Amino acid sequence: MSPTRITGTGSAAPRNVVTNQDLEKIMDTNDEWITQRTGIKSRHIALPGEKFSDFAVPAARQAMALAGIDAADLDMIICGTLTPDTRMPSGGCCVQALLDADRAFAFDVCAACSGFVYGLSIADRELRFRPDQQILVVGGDVVSHHVDWRDRATAVLFGDGVGAAVLTGAGETGHRLLSVELGSNGKLGELLNIRGIGSAAPVTAKDYDPDDNYIRMQGREIFKHAIKNMVEISYRAMKNAGIEPEQITKIIPHQANLRIIEMLAKQFRVPMERVFVNIQSYGNTSAGTIPIALDEAARGGFLEPGDMVLLTVFGGGLTWGAAVIEWE
Ligand code: UT7
Repeated sequence: MSPTRITGTGSAAPRNVVTNQDLEKIMDTNDEWITQRTGIKSRHIALPGEKFSDFAVPAARQAMALAGIDAADLDMIICGTLTPDTRMPSGGCCVQALLDADRAFAFDVCAACSGFVYGLSIADRELRFRPDQQILVVGGDVVSHHVDWRDRATAVLFGDGVGAAVLTGAGETGHRLLSVELGSNGKLGELLNIRGIGSAAPVTAKDYDPDDNYIRMQGREIFKHAIKNMVEISYRAMKNAGIEPEQITKIIPHQANLRIIEMLAKQFRVPMERVFVNIQSYGNTSAGTIPIALDEAARGGFLEPGDMVLLTVFGGGLTWGAAVIEWE
């Protein structure tokens, strides 16, 4: 069976940068708290009018350029996002139209921060049946449009950005995706939610509360579940890839909290210099964290031929996932 390969990556984020010092001016917070508790120093925040496709399309174009394919070559577009431009058409269909990827079919995966890794899994399964396909997986969010700037417990954490990757089972070049594993627990969904907009709280309802448009999180609880589930799913991904934990040489973790990242590094006995961290300049971009980090790690030379790379993610739903890639 031909292995699934990642042949190109890309990423994009808004130009507008908001620092911790900027936030100090609008809410009761400070750089010291944010830095010590999260590792974040600044984040990219979309300006009014900026939307998901403004970042998804350039990220996709970069990934296709590296993969050496055109939009016309795409068979499928999967967008892992919570924040498509519109509910209908989907984010995937918007991206398809803007790219002129007329031969493809497109859809969204709603798995919050785990959306990109969920997309990798779907692409991997598809390629087992038809390896010759070219599949674009996009992951990212303009989550700042759901941030309540009065709520310091969440407002300092999030940023906007999108990443993308091209996957195929055709050809002999590209980084081999050895395994992808997913998990979820809907019973704990209340711990991290956006209540409004769905059919349970439609904006047309008389008693619609605009505050329901905001992201709410029970941070400490999420912290515990994030570590437990990312550790478990990562071991499962390694086992299914047929490798021992000691063989992992680089980790690209979800960028939600530097303390969580450090705990994962310790758990897998990978020194921090071999763990990719860009949380300081992005914050938590939801489904964007993994593909943006993967793209920066690839382009910046952090990933080297022979590396055994672990991706691990956790998000709302609750959802989580992990993947192992052999870098070529
Ligand atoms: O992407 C999805 C996955 N997300 C995650 O994995 C995030 C997981 N959770 C976390 O990363 C952390 O729980 C947070 C960074 C969200 C919060 O850190 P914490 O150490 O758990 O802080 P806390 O929520 O327990 O709050 C500690 C204190 C509280 O004050 P008191 O009650 O001790 O007086 C908060 O009111 O820090 C206060 N606080 C703040 N102070 C200054 C909360 N937010 C802020 C703030 N600035 N922005």
